[in-house]
Amino acid sequence: MLKPLKVAGEIYWLGANDRKKHLFENIWPLPNGVAYNCFLINDEKTALVDTIESGVAGDFVEKVESLLAGRPLDYLIINHMELDHTGEVKEILKRYPNVQIIGNSKTFKIVEAYWGNVNNFKHVEDNEELPLGHHKLKFLMTPWVHWPETMMTYDVTEQVLFSGDAFGSFGTLDGGVFDDEIDFTYYEEDMRRYFSNIVGKYANMVQKAFKKLEGVPVKSVCPVHGPVWRSNPEVVLGLYDKWSKMEAENGVVIIYASMYGNTEQVADYIARKIAERGVKKIRIHDVSKTHISNLINDIWKYKGVILGSCAYNSQMFPLMEQLTRELEHMGVKDRELGIFGSYSWNGGGVKNIKKFQENVSWNLVSEPVEIYGIPDGKKLAQCDALALEMAEKLK
Ligand code: FEO
Repeated sequence: MLKPLKVAGEIYWLGANDRKKHLFENIWPLPNGVAYNCFLINDEKTALVDTIESGVAGDFVEKVESLLAGRPLDYLIINHMELDHTGEVKEILKRYPNVQIIGNSKTFKIVEAYWGNVNNFKHVEDNEELPLGHHKLKFLMTPWVHWPETMMTYDVTEQVLFSGDAFGSFGTLDGGVFDDEIDFTYYEEDMRRYFSNIVGKYANMVQKAFKKLEGVPVKSVCPVHGPVWRSNPEVVLGLYDKWSKMEAENGVVIIYASMYGNTEQVADYIARKIAERGVKKIRIHDVSKTHISNLINDIWKYKGVILGSCAYNSQMFPLMEQLTRELEHMGVKDRELGIFGSYSWNGGGVKNIKKFQENVSWNLVSEPVEIYGIPDGKKLAQCDALALEMAEKLK
């Protein structure tokens, strides 16, 4: 039912909302859904820039047909091969068998792996141009944002950037599609969570993409998820620049693993001591309750991180181990870290969080606090010191 919307010149948004899917990539929760965007350029030559996930909009091909009004589709540009953007490629190929698919050498390999031999594949190189009539496109290779084959397509005429996953967000487009039609405060958390969960591992590649875009005038940013930025693209560009540089707010997230509540009580104690030092941005999460997607989001948001784990089979608590492994995998940098934990038989929680700290080289604000049973006065004094040092780092 959603109608195509004009972005600029002869560029039309063809998007769809997905409120059914629970988990993006079958792992990341979608409490607010997700939108898939793609764009049709209806010029002397016609071009579809990406498609959407299969089956989300039952009438996708019909919408393309309706916009083209009987004209052929000349080009299908694949900026990114992940199936949330290539889900309708097979249907497009059925309806338009003569369409020329545009991608790079890496795109082509994956196309073959998915769909076998495809005719009419046109390899493009970095900075190669394609005139469509009024519009002229330029292809920018931006690998690993977020897979190795990813590229962006830039409309030189209208200064529109089709950016793929970069500058995208979780969250459906509930009426408003363009940035000037929405209340962005609703999207910011979902955008950071999308960035940190999906793109964050490739933060350095996002910075390389920014280098490539230096001096390129951008009036509109058209990502494949979330709002389309036609009025204030500097907002989304600025946030992605900040997050990909790992810049964070002066706040702290405390994440604990606790079986019977001792470690949890220490988390509350430390949080209170930090609050008494004037820090207002403090969040506490139980690793067993809060999804890792939200934990990673808060770790990307705040400069201070305090991890606390009970011992479990002489190791960290399994879900804390999962979190730290994922953080190592993602390469999150430049955080201030506090460590605490408790044990009653063998230790293992604190020792292994310390190993994690050494692996990621985060700054340890004070000596880890390891508590046998219930904290005594000496251990609480160590917690006080941890809280004080963390609060100092956040000034
Ligand atoms: Fe939205 Fe990497 O796909």
